[in-house]
Amino acid sequence: MIQFQLETDKALFEAAMKFGQQQVRKLIEKSPGFCPMYTRNGTWKHEGATWTHWCDGFLPGMMWVFRRYEADRKGPDADFWKQNAIRYSRPLEARKTDREVHDLGFLFLSTYYRWFQVDRDPEQEAVLIEAGKTLALRFQDKGQYLRSFVSEDSLFIDIMMNVGIIFYAARATGDKHLREVALRHALTTRRVLVRGDGSTAHEGLFDTESGEFLRQATHQGHRADSCWSRGLAWALYGFGTCYEYSRDPHFLETAESCADYYITHSPADGIAPWDFNAPAESRKQFDTSAAAIAASGLLRLSRLLQDPVKGHFYWNTGLRILRTLSDKHLANKDKGWEGVLKGGVYHIHKGLGVNESVIWGDHFFIEGLEHALRHL
Ligand code: GLY
Repeated sequence: MIQFQLETDKALFEAAMKFGQQQVRKLIEKSPGFCPMYTRNGTWKHEGATWTHWCDGFLPGMMWVFRRYEADRKGPDADFWKQNAIRYSRPLEARKTDREVHDLGFLFLSTYYRWFQVDRDPEQEAVLIEAGKTLALRFQDKGQYLRSFVSEDSLFIDIMMNVGIIFYAARATGDKHLREVALRHALTTRRVLVRGDGSTAHEGLFDTESGEFLRQATHQGHRADSCWSRGLAWALYGFGTCYEYSRDPHFLETAESCADYYITHSPADGIAPWDFNAPAESRKQFDTSAAAIAASGLLRLSRLLQDPVKGHFYWNTGLRILRTLSDKHLANKDKGWEGVLKGGVYHIHKGLGVNESVIWGDHFFIEGLEHALRHL
């Protein structure tokens, strides 16, 4: 029975991976050099509102994952993906000094980090280090957090997915100040944005004069005191990464508590509503991107736990979510749809990318599939 499930998963995930490659191939042929963010009625949107500029690493990031997948199975396309991944990663280099966004981890861990894992060229590592140093400049001494792109008094849960690049730069250079910044940011986030039940708030607001924490707030979630599912998924993944770098067990406990909240509050198929506390009618809108991030994060987390039973549980839950996404949410039955996964949500209040493909959902879905397939 177990063997049968593993074989079914393998076939399902391989088919989803193949479909992902087909979609990305079509995109780079149709719109060379274009890095999308979200679709409108299934077509990647080239113009219009983006709210913030954080997504350009995800398409090349998918290409790096395709390269690894193909290289591991000695597939003929490994070099095709590598050459394209390089072509799409290179233009990001200029963003290593971008002080407008808090997203340098999203941009560079998906691209230059993976490139450096392959080529070990010190010039690639220098880009990662510089990006980590730039992100660290957002640190607010008063309050002890990395400020979000919106204002000085604001801390976002999403930054937990970016702080890894500061840890990376700290480790690569031996710079204790950088490590301290990353640790303090993570500790503050844990204190003010992660609640006792493992749910998370999207934003924390501070008094910039005194550094006093004032209140929880939100931009993309339902309410200040609700749990926006993508924010929770960023937290479960991000605190896991933080534990990998710091080995501080508090961060592992936090990642586990966020993971347990995600699992116990999601339907049996593992696909979370866009906000766990939105009104019932609104909660019918799920967010497949939150599910993809959670799935990939759970697979990673499962390998960090000491307890093999819980590790198995997380691994199997990650597989279950990937199974649902591959089986029920893949865009393969909709001819002409340009993304990989349907049913993602970007910004529900602004009406951006609601029930559409979103590039980070596609990216973490592909990352999760590749991770799973390496072990099936
Ligand atoms: N900016 C990160 C997110 O929308 O989840």
